[in-house]
Amino acid sequence: MTDCLGDGAGDMTPMDLYEKLTSQGDTVRTLKTEKAAKADIDAAVQLLLKLKVDYKQVTGQDYKTGCPPSECSVSQDNGPAADGEDMVDPWNVSTTNAKGVDYDKLIVRFGSSKIDQELVDRIEKVSGQKAHRFLRRGIFFSHRDMHQVLDAYEKNKSFYLYTGRGPSSEALHMGHLIPFIFTKWLQDTFDIPLVIQLTDDEKYLWKDLSLEDCHRYAVENAKDIIACGFDINKTFIFSDLDYMGASPDFYRNVVKVQKHVTFNQVKGIFGFGDSDCIGKIAFPAIQAAPSFSSSFPQIFKGRKDVQCLIPCAIDQDPYFRMTRDVAPRIGYPKPALLHSTFFPALQGAQTKMSASDANSSIFLTDTPKQIKNKVNKHAFSGGKDTVEEHRKYGGNPNVDVSFMYLTFFLEDDEQLEKIRQDYASGALLTGELKKRLIETLQPMITSHQERRKQVTEETVKQFMTPRPLNFSF
Ligand code: TRP
Repeated sequence: MTDCLGDGAGDMTPMDLYEKLTSQGDTVRTLKTEKAAKADIDAAVQLLLKLKVDYKQVTGQDYKTGCPPSECSVSQDNGPAADGEDMVDPWNVSTTNAKGVDYDKLIVRFGSSKIDQELVDRIEKVSGQKAHRFLRRGIFFSHRDMHQVLDAYEKNKSFYLYTGRGPSSEALHMGHLIPFIFTKWLQDTFDIPLVIQLTDDEKYLWKDLSLEDCHRYAVENAKDIIACGFDINKTFIFSDLDYMGASPDFYRNVVKVQKHVTFNQVKGIFGFGDSDCIGKIAFPAIQAAPSFSSSFPQIFKGRKDVQCLIPCAIDQDPYFRMTRDVAPRIGYPKPALLHSTFFPALQGAQTKMSASDANSSIFLTDTPKQIKNKVNKHAFSGGKDTVEEHRKYGGNPNVDVSFMYLTFFLEDDEQLEKIRQDYASGALLTGELKKRLIETLQPMITSHQERRKQVTEETVKQFMTPRPLNFSF
């Protein structure tokens, strides 16, 4: 993975690296228990993370304490690292920190770039639009090659958007909408084509679901996606189960990717093991293929050089690190990326919302009353135990889930800042904060439900039919 790994592993043997890592892990732990200066701890952690990347590059395995190289086979679940490091891969997100995953560390570990104020300003300048609140508030926080996309756009070179969803159930929750809300904004702002992949094949391979169910969920989920307001003349939504068989060009790109990635590489990136089915091992190529414009000849008229930009949650990055590594070797441009943070579960930012736990999420099908009850009962509070204490010491917005949700959905920056200050000072009580959130969510979800009702089978069929879009390439 040349574009995410620094050099430095040099010619160290796996055992050398293993020993170095173990001792660096000890150093970090000692610094933490001795409450050393933050800068010293950070520096030690950086080195530890870098060694882990080197270790994985050299051995194709994840480092595990007490488990020297070659004695341990790689399992899919790498488990939280021994030093309490956050765990983020396409299947798991967890952290021990109540504020949530440390996204700055993730940028270092994944080798991506931070979306800083300069980039936000530049997006505003190039597009002539005020940046979306997800950009203003660091919800989309990391990127790869976004400056390059903007450079080209300034020279009238267009690009296209690619995002997706794994349809594992009929019920979407609010967290699922984040990439789509943002993608819709990008489509409107830059006026470009969008392709949306529904990986019903992926969910069949990973979950205990029938092919029929996965495909049905894909179509049902497409309705919720369409209800976000995508332009039918500029958007193609496809189910892998349908499109793989219908598009020779798409399948050719899948095979090209498959030829250029070894088992050892996907093992290193995704942690596949000997007992994973071969469908899983081959799947990353299918998620990679839509990053190449030649996979959609009906839209791009056979052009294979149209730049792709992928808005996605950071847990999808492993797929696209692989894609970017392969792209130049098969003669295609590397896709650029915009990464979002996770939408926290009601119980707190240690994990993301889960579709399988009804109480951890607010679903798009919830009634106003259910929304109210869930927020009041389950939203983790950063407030104090009693009103007196709260008034005296104030609440902590940084761990408060209701406040976090407002940062996602309350459009007005000044209002949000006032809520933050009032909550921190104790002027605003937890019950009042929750009320603000409930009042923000209820109309949002109700209008989503109304828009979804308008989406007919015929509309879904149109979105999902391979066809030219309103662009000339
Ligand atoms: N693997 C993703 C999921 O399980 C679905 C997906 C496919 C995707 N292609 C994508 C997500 C591109 C973001 C961008 O949800």
